[in-house]
Amino acid sequence: MGERRKVHFGIIGLGLMGREFASAIARWCHLLDNGPVPVLTGVCDTNPKMQTWFTDSFPGLPIVTSSYEDLLGSSQIDAIYCAVPHNLHEKIYCDVIRAGKHLMGEKPFGINRAANSAILATLAKNPGVFARCSSEFPYFPAVQKFISWIREGRFGRVMEVRAGFHHSSDMDVNKPINWKRVIDICGEYGCMGDLGIHTQHIPFRMGWIPKTVYASLSKIVTTRPDGKGGTAPCLTWDNATLSCAVDHADGYEFPMYLETKRMAPGMTNSWYIEVDGLNASAKFSTRDPKSFFYLLSGEKEQPWCRLDLGYTPAVPGITGSIFEFGFSDSILQMWAAFLLELEKGTPPVFGCFTPEETRLSHALLSAALDSHRNRSVEMVRA
Ligand SMILES: NC(=O)c1ccc[n+]([C@@H]2O[C@H](COP(=O)([O-])OP(=O)(O)OC[C@H]3O[C@@H](n4cnc5c(N)ncnc54)[C@H](O)[C@@H]3O)[C@@H](O)[C@H]2O)c1
Repeated sequence: MGERRKVHFGIIGLGLMGREFASAIARWCHLLDNGPVPVLTGVCDTNPKMQTWFTDSFPGLPIVTSSYEDLLGSSQIDAIYCAVPHNLHEKIYCDVIRAGKHLMGEKPFGINRAANSAILATLAKNPGVFARCSSEFPYFPAVQKFISWIREGRFGRVMEVRAGFHHSSDMDVNKPINWKRVIDICGEYGCMGDLGIHTQHIPFRMGWIPKTVYASLSKIVTTRPDGKGGTAPCLTWDNATLSCAVDHADGYEFPMYLETKRMAPGMTNSWYIEVDGLNASAKFSTRDPKSFFYLLSGEKEQPWCRLDLGYTPAVPGITGSIFEFGFSDSILQMWAAFLLELEKGTPPVFGCFTPEETRLSHALLSAALDSHRNRSVEMVRA
């Protein structure tokens, strides 16, 4: 193996997701490919307390700052991972792109459609910048198997697709409010902006683009403790079900249901996808993270088969194939996909969510808001 290219990263936003990437960098030796290697070179958070875990975990980190311009102005840094609240996406992503740094952004890639358009317009003016949006669940081995079944046409005529993402921590009505429940910071999309891209990544990449949408949106808990002894309004959508019509490339239409719920009893980060086809059907849920469930049609009786997959990801790693794969492995795989695509120009494995796909996502979510407001079926116009 020759000298591997190093990509020097800065992280802006050192919360939940910023730490996940840093941890993935720290165990890059886990992977056995010969793609580029990320090097953590700078971190930024306006809250200095958030910097401590990074300075403790990465002694000698060259740049530690509360001003992201310090990362953008540094010739030591090639790429940025930006994991900040949604109201900051437009300004910071555009600044990153204009600084000529590659970008892994976070969902929803702009707080609303106007912000997303501004980010995409800035990208169009800076074609040398490689940008993608984070979405890790397709990298579970059982989901990779699922994707290969779709690509091989094994389902036959697609009858129905269901994908979703369910959380339950908001079922605790005494849980204090945070920025993800505040419209000015999280955005009008609410749970759809937080969780929607996770449900859309595989359908969009497979060419299953919603043509129309009917949205059922719920605001269930309208006030929450403010964490200071009082209460605060909680005005974001808690739950959303999008009923979509999709034109299949083979010339027929099928229904697709995309659910994003912050209030789904008992669910903890439960992401799922299910496809019903005329020849075969399949389902996957992170509740059963090693299992690819499938059913082959044609018999009088229709048993579901369960295929358990061990650690067999797209980018090979040191873990034995009989062992289990988990959330932090999916983050590592997503980052390997990002770096391999940055290096090779095309994704040698299932590629990360693209800026054009974020445009589709915003078209869908904007139409969903209109649908709920007007109690109408809306066209999705990208
Ligand atoms: N891919 C996923 O699975 C996943 C999961 C959770 C969140 N997210 C996304 O990641 C992003 C961040 O979410 P999170 O859960 O990590 O949030 P978080 O609240 O845990 O972290 C955000 C951090 O950004 C910092 N910050 C705020 N303004 C800043 C600024 N101007 N400069 C630098 N830092 C600033 C905050 O101090 C905070 O530490 C959001 O877009 C969210 O939708 C993705």
